[in-house]
Amino acid sequence: MTDYKPTIVVLEDADAVSEYVKDEIVKQIRAKPNAILTLPTGGTPIDTYALLVKAYQNGEVDFSNVTTTNLDEYWPIKKAHPSSYAYYMTEHLYGHVNLKPENVFIPDGEAEDFDAEAVRYRAILEQYPADLGFITLGPGETCHIGFNERGSAEDSVVRYVPLDDQTIEANARFFDDPQDVPKGAITQGVADILSAKRILFVATGEHKAWGLRRSLQGEINSDSPASFLRRHRQVIVIADKAAASLL
Ligand code: GLP
Repeated sequence: MTDYKPTIVVLEDADAVSEYVKDEIVKQIRAKPNAILTLPTGGTPIDTYALLVKAYQNGEVDFSNVTTTNLDEYWPIKKAHPSSYAYYMTEHLYGHVNLKPENVFIPDGEAEDFDAEAVRYRAILEQYPADLGFITLGPGETCHIGFNERGSAEDSVVRYVPLDDQTIEANARFFDDPQDVPKGAITQGVADILSAKRILFVATGEHKAWGLRRSLQGEINSDSPASFLRRHRQVIVIADKAAASLL
């Protein structure tokens, strides 16, 4: 199997990273107005989404022919729950730009049968192969991408996964009651993520420094699902100085 050395861009701080990622996404959409984007949730992309909304409002970018496929969603969770990723995407992006509702896809946290939902979502990904994947690094030692926790295989595809204790702890900040964090999720698999034509892999903050080093310089294996990104020819790693401090 071939390994590649991703391009690494280190910027001053998280704001500079958000600007850079916004610019890359705008360039992608201008080059291909019907681009297909894979999108993340969590804390890292919030400012990037705010900048994309601004760019849209200033007439710099048009989402009318863009398609988005989100990485993951908690399971089970109601779409109307303020901590669901469906709610998050509406709050931070979908509700403010001219994406067509029929062109936005996210796993259904309300699905009764998560296996059937995984099959449905996998078919969507096959129909809409991503031009650009915007991928962020998970918390602590998880080195997760999407919700591919440690132990995820390189050839994994959309499926239900139990969440790592470190993920539950880190994501508790998004819930009123930390007990409410779902114990599982439906996520794109590692292979699904790697099928994007190009990938932006983003990490900010000192708390991501260990994980970024493990993912970029440690062994490529399931102990760090993000390390599998080094099997992809076209990955740009975008980190702030704090996240890059151990490289
Ligand atoms: C959640 C998402 C992951 C993401 C992670 C990053 O767990 N499901 O796809 O990698 O958040 O979290 P943050 O950006 O809040 O550090």
